[in-house]
Parts: sequence; C-alpha cells; structure tokens
Amino acid sequence: MSQGIPEEIVDEIRQRTDLVSLINEYIKLERRGKNMVGLCPFHNEKTPSFSVSPDKQLYHCFGCGASGNVFSLIMQMENLTFPEAAHYLARKAGVTVPEKKAQTGVESLKDKIYRLNELAARFYAYHLHNSEGGKKAYNYLLKRGIKQEAIELFKLGYAPPGWTGFYNFALKKGAPPDLMVKSGLVSPGREKGYYDRFRDRVMFPIFNISGKIAGFGGRTMSEGDKSGPKYLNSPETPVFDKGNMLYGLNLAREEIRRQKKAIVTEGYTDVITAYQAGIKNCVASLGTALTAEQGRLLRNQADTVVTAYDSDTAGQAATWRGLAILQSTGCLVEVAEMPEGSDPDTFIRKNGPEKFHDLVSEALPLIKYRLQQLKKRHDLTSDKGRIDFIEELMPFLLTAVNQIEQDYYLKKAAEILDIEEDALRRELKKRRSYDKRKWKKEDLSKEIEPQKISLRPEEKNILSLMLQSKEIAEEGRNLLKLDYLDNSEAKKVIEEIWNLSAGELVFSIEKLLNKFEDQQIVSIISEAATNPEMQDITDQTAKRMLSDSINKLHMLWINRKLKELEEKRKSYEARGMYNEANELLMKENELIKHKGSNPDLLGKGGDFNG
Ligand code: UTP
Ligand code: MN
Repeated sequence: MSQGIPEEIVDEIRQRTDLVSLINEYIKLERRGKNMVGLCPFHNEKTPSFSVSPDKQLYHCFGCGASGNVFSLIMQMENLTFPEAAHYLARKAGVTVPEKKAQTGVESLKDKIYRLNELAARFYAYHLHNSEGGKKAYNYLLKRGIKQEAIELFKLGYAPPGWTGFYNFALKKGAPPDLMVKSGLVSPGREKGYYDRFRDRVMFPIFNISGKIAGFGGRTMSEGDKSGPKYLNSPETPVFDKGNMLYGLNLAREEIRRQKKAIVTEGYTDVITAYQAGIKNCVASLGTALTAEQGRLLRNQADTVVTAYDSDTAGQAATWRGLAILQSTGCLVEVAEMPEGSDPDTFIRKNGPEKFHDLVSEALPLIKYRLQQLKKRHDLTSDKGRIDFIEELMPFLLTAVNQIEQDYYLKKAAEILDIEEDALRRELKKRRSYDKRKWKKEDLSKEIEPQKISLRPEEKNILSLMLQSKEIAEEGRNLLKLDYLDNSEAKKVIEEIWNLSAGELVFSIEKLLNKFEDQQIVSIISEAATNPEMQDITDQTAKRMLSDSINKLHMLWINRKLKELEEKRKSYEARGMYNEANELLMKENELIKHKGSNPDLLGKGGDFNG
C-alpha cells in the first residue's frame, strides 16, 4: 500500500511522530477544548479555521478543506510524494527505513539517479583535493573567499579535464552507461562511446529540499566564453527541474522558518557567501525567472520573501514577471536593491553582512517598488507614458495580498497620474479575469488548489458516525446499502470501514488511513473523524443520527431511481412499447410502496408532511 515502505514501518513512523509538535514547526496552535486551532498553513486567512485533534492525530481546515495526518501534512507542506514524506519523517523520528532494494529487488530510476549523483559528488570532491587541476580549482574557490567549511558543507568539487574520467570511474563502480546518460552526467558520443558532461569545472551539487543531490552546476574558471557557458548545469532529468528547485533550501529551511523570511538571490555563490557570513536564510533561483512552483516552496516556510537580485538582471521583464508570480502564490514579496554592478556575493564580501542586512531590511514591498520604477521610467506628461504606466502597473496591482493593499496602491497610482481612483479601479476590474487566466495557464498551472470532493451532508454524517465505534459501524452495515451513496470515494471508505470492523476488535482510524494513498480520500476520512459536532454525543444519539441520515439518503436514492424509471418509461410509451413501459410502471409502484412503508421517507422534502 505504501509504495514500497512496509506497512509496519509506516505505522512506526506515525506512532513516533506527534502531529501537534510537527504542526508547531509551521504555525502556532492554541488549545480549544479537545482540539488545537490555528491559522491554516494551506490558505490565507485571518481567523483560525485549522483544527487539529491530538487524540486522533488528524487535522482539518474548515476554510479550505485540507485535512489529513502527519504524512499528508508533510506531503502538502514540503511538496513531497508519500515515500519522500515517509523518509523525511522517519529521519526526524529516528526510524530506519529498510533500503527499497532489499524489499522489492527494484530501485526506482529516480533513486538510481540520486545514488549516481552522490557518487559523482564524491568523485568531484576527491578530485578537488587530489588532482593537479583540483589544486587550481581549490585556489580559485579560496580566492573567491569560499572557505574550507563551506566547501565541505556545500560539497563543492572539481570535474577533471579529461573526456572520460567520471565515465570510467562510474563504469568501474558498476553504473550502466544509460543510467549515466539519464542522469545527465555523461553524454553519448556522436560516433560511439560516451563522454563526461562536466570537464575542468568547479562543481556545485544542487540539492533538493531533503538534501539529495538532484543535479550539478559546473563553473568554468576561465573568463571569456571559449569553454562554453560560465555555468554549465545538469540537463532536465527525472529528478532535476530547474524550475522547481531552489538552491540552498535544504540548508536554509530552518532559518527561513525561524525568521519567517527568505532571501532569494540568483546564484550559487550568493548563497554560499551569505551562508558563510552567517546569513542562513538565503536561497538561489539559479538564474531563471521565478516560478509558481518555487513560490509554493517558499510560502510554506516564510511569510515574507525578499529578493536580492544582481543589479543587472533586476530590471528585466522576466524578473518582474517572476516577482509577480511569486507574490501571486501568496508570499509577501519585497525587493532589495543591489547597488550598480553588484550581486549579494560581491556585496557581502565588499561591505560585510551588516550592510547586507540593511539592504534587506530596507527592501520595498513589490507593488511600491514597481510604482517607483515606473514613475522614473515613464514620461507622465505624455499620453503614451501615462498609458504605458497604467499598463505595466496593472498586473502588479492584481498580485496585492489583500484588498487593503490593493486599494492603497490604487490610490497612490491615481494620485501620481492625477486621475480619478475609480477610473483606475474600472481598468483593474477589466483586467482581473484576463490576467489571472493568462498567468494561470502559463505559470500557475502547477499551483495546487486545495481539493475538495463534495459529499452530501448526510454522507459526511454517516462517515463521522461510523468512525465513532465498531458498534455504530456495524449498525451502519445493517441499515445502509452502498447504492444509496452518491459519492464513489465515500463508498470506498465505507467499504473499507466494514472490512476492517469485521476483522478487528477495536476499530482504528490509522488502519483505515493506511488503506488509502489518495490524498483526497485521506482528507475525507480526516474531516469525518474530526467533525466537532460528533465529538461528545452519546451512543444513542449517534445511532439515531445514523438512521436519520441513512433514511434521508435512501429517500434520495428512491427519488433518483423513480426519476430514472419514469424517464425511461416515457420514452417507451412514446415509441409505443407498452409492455416494457408497464413493467417499469410496476417497478415504480414497488418503489413508491417502499417509500410509503417508512414514515420518514414520505414525499420530497416534506411535501406531504406539512
Ligand atoms: P550569475 O552570472 O550572476 O553568476 O548567474 P554568479 O552566481 O554571480 O556566479 P559568479 O559569482 O560569477 O561565479 C546567476 C546564476 O545563474 C545561473 C547560475 O545558477 C548562476 O549561479 N547561470 C548563470 C547559469 O546557469 N549559466 C550561466 O552561464 C550563467
Ligand atoms: Mn551573480
């Protein structure tokens, strides 16, 4: 069930992980009765609707519908798959997860690539310290102010200049050439054979959020472009996609969370220099415009994201777009301005960390910054200048974190242009749908909307009640037919409840959750199990509510059936197929009789009860 991790290990991880302290790493929880509540980490809100049950080890947000257990929390928060989340929690809890290989005999391609990358990093690190060219690379790093500790922490290395150094090494270690190609470390030759992708370069491993090496960047030490790009990076592989990684996030995460603030720079060296100088909440976007995916990684850890870009890329259209996207994903974006000609790396080395702190704390909110820039850039005495100004400001106003911010800058802009605020507001309204859609299509498509499967209130009640005790689950089995349920996910859950309660003495929600990997279903179960209305009711009340809800569903089912039959019958009648029509009419009468036998079921919504 748990994608290769044995169920008893999954169980152990769960038992050793406390949901409340896990959630406390992200948000503040307060006690309210049996439960704890706080501001939902999955959507923006001002009043707490995120509820956690310490007894059941489940959470549920009444605002956005997010719910689940320790695993789904980490999956959602850290953007991980189930096995990744399980490994993450296992590490935290000190549980050893047996190697996948041992269990199933197969290692996934992704895991193979990670393992090969690890081997490559060791190969490069070895050559940094033990080769002629490595000496040159080591001195290059020292000259750039990167010290031994940072070299070790960031696992920097050196790729030797030959064409097959790594290839031969990896081959000897048993790595198949096609895996080397898939990992982007080696390329197939034009004629035959293979050659190393990285040659005579200083190597920067790029870690994913959990510290695994996803890819590499290799810097040339020669100025000018005779040896290709300044940085050569791994190509896209099954584990490496520049667009959803942030360099340094594995190391910076804790500090980002502590400060609730992240600094986004552009380059490898910015992060390393900052870290060395004690600024440990820096990540790098690796020289590409920011994506929604990266925004999500950040907003899960930080309230505020300050960008500190190289002075020469700061004003580029792609940069602006990235900033708007970042803010659209729910981060409060601020922009720190680097002085002409510098990036955080050179700035910190020249002026020290204190001065860098100053720049960061003087950073301007995105919309304010945009407004200032546009004011400088456009001639507001000309019509064209004024139109361009509005045109270029609008997408940013749309990223406002709330109405108040939007109104505030709308007013500012109207003042600058000396026009009516309402005129601008109308413009904004016109664009709202268009711009959002456009962005959504291109960049926000990976944005995860909180998913909701809609259950009828009765279906929700039935689930909540049957999760109360084995006895009630059994009662439900006697009264309910799965057909009555409209929702196929609810059917699956109830079937599982019955399976489990048949075999077990005590019914356990954890066992039930183990049966499902689909997060939507985990979510349904968690929501049902944490329903506050069901917390303190007696068995007697529970049974009454159960039969009420089942009766209601039964009635709805009969009405649905009747309608179906009636439609079918009418079409038979229209075609003169009276025998068939009659048969259906009899069935209808049967159903109506059934309805009549149960006083609760009379009529639709009390038509006859009144
Ligand atoms: P920069 O050109 O600002 O490099 O590109 P840098 O990080 O300041 O590097 P140094 O200090 O000159 O060594 C920023 C980032 O853009 C990506 C890299 O991730 C780099 O860190 N980049 C840049 C590439 O991928 N390829 C390139 O050729 C250049
Ligand atoms: Mn730079």
